[in-house]
Amino acid sequence: GVGDPAKGEKEFGKCKACHMIQDADGNTIVKGGRTGPDLYGVIGRQAGSVEDFRYGTSLIEAGDDGLVWDEETFVAYIQDPANFLKSYLDDNKARSKMSFRMRKGAADVYAYLVSVGPQ
Ligand code: HEM
Repeated sequence: GVGDPAKGEKEFGKCKACHMIQDADGNTIVKGGRTGPDLYGVIGRQAGSVEDFRYGTSLIEAGDDGLVWDEETFVAYIQDPANFLKSYLDDNKARSKMSFRMRKGAADVYAYLVSVGPQ
């Protein structure tokens, strides 16, 4: 990837309203809201797979169809989640519970999330 994790850490300030980063042992890496799922280890994970989080049906369906968050899918998704799901599912009626769109800096946020993830 070409992203800058330090820039991504700053950009993640926009995500914190809805997302925390908390590891499997419950250690908080970033304090955040609960409107969206915990983003610890999100890169490499099947979409829509945090247990007990109430995802929208379209994101669940995409995960069941094989959507995994890698650089390409993550960057495309956070630039426009609803449009990404419509295109991924080839379904114009697909919906996203995440309405936030990050136009710039998505590759930096990707690099940041990799840097705070497992391994
Ligand atoms: C879902 C990233 C900002 C609310 C997700 C997912 C990712 C993500 C990767 C899918 C997670 C999974 O499949 O487990 C980000 C990033 C953000 C951001 C990097 C900042 C650039 C926000 C904001 C909100 C939000 C500001 C609330 C206003 C949600 C919700 C979902 C979600 C509700 C579930 C979507 C669904 O079920 O359709 N986010 N997010 N996100 N996010 Fe965000």
